[in-house]
Amino acid sequence: MEYQNILVNIEGSTATITINRPNKLNALNKDTIKDLHGAFKKLEKNKKVRVIIITGSGEKAFVAGADIAEFSGFSKKEGKKLAAKGQEMLFDFVENLSKPVIAAVNGFALGGGLELAMACHFRVASENAKMGLPEVSLGVIPGYGGTQRLPRLVGKGRAMEMIMTAGMIDAQRALDYGLVNHVVPQEGLMGLCTQLADRISNNSPVAIGYAIKAINDCFNNNVNGYATEIEAFGECFGTADFKEGTSAFLEKRKADFPGK
Ligand code: COA
Repeated sequence: MEYQNILVNIEGSTATITINRPNKLNALNKDTIKDLHGAFKKLEKNKKVRVIIITGSGEKAFVAGADIAEFSGFSKKEGKKLAAKGQEMLFDFVENLSKPVIAAVNGFALGGGLELAMACHFRVASENAKMGLPEVSLGVIPGYGGTQRLPRLVGKGRAMEMIMTAGMIDAQRALDYGLVNHVVPQEGLMGLCTQLADRISNNSPVAIGYAIKAINDCFNNNVNGYATEIEAFGECFGTADFKEGTSAFLEKRKADFPGK
């Protein structure tokens, strides 16, 4: 087996990654992060795959956080390295992937689990999902981007309250906050994510890749997102996808994007 802690299944143009440590509520240990990095990297290169869905195995948890057992004895230096390496290998990596990544939040998404869901391009939750950043209850703060991505998604005041109280919000509140885009009964979760993935897959993968970059740059203080947009918009005009998309429209047929 290629990966020890995750399952990867490709059906049509959609790949599903399932984090598979149900006995530990899919907690993210070092090896799982390594597996996820490897899988995302490989799927990004796979021309057949246009959308990636990530979920947790079992009915209880998406991911219940970073593996507490693994880092409980860490020094300051090791703590810093854990956050830096994790952000680089998984959280920033997913956010900047050129293919859309949908988080199917099927239960607890706590700590690193919510941070992973927030690094995805958008989130769909099942009715039983519970989300929170409980790190301060352990004497630590979120280290996988949670202090940055949560305020962007829900606003500063709500993020402050969620992080300071270390509490959990339910799926309905997450929907009200704009943290997730849809809430559905658990049995309908993967179906809705697949439907969304299919709709996305009808569109130009090259244009989607540029759109992800431009939208991400809206939240990158080091660059001007409008400049990114202008540059990316122009680049689209040199692509086979653009030729196909505009020709198909003018010829009144459905576009078949080559993805170049
Ligand atoms: N790291 C390591 N192990 C974890 C874990 C984590 N983040 N979250 C759950 N587990 C393990 C438990 O230790 C337990 O293992 P065991 O059976 O070998 O003792 C197993 O997963 C099941 O969890 P359990 O706590 O028994 O389930 P529960 O239904 O009683 O409670 C939670 C569910 C999610 C409320 C609880 O597991 C929890 O609070 N987890 C930690 C959440 C957290 O603080 N995450 C942030 C980490 S930075």
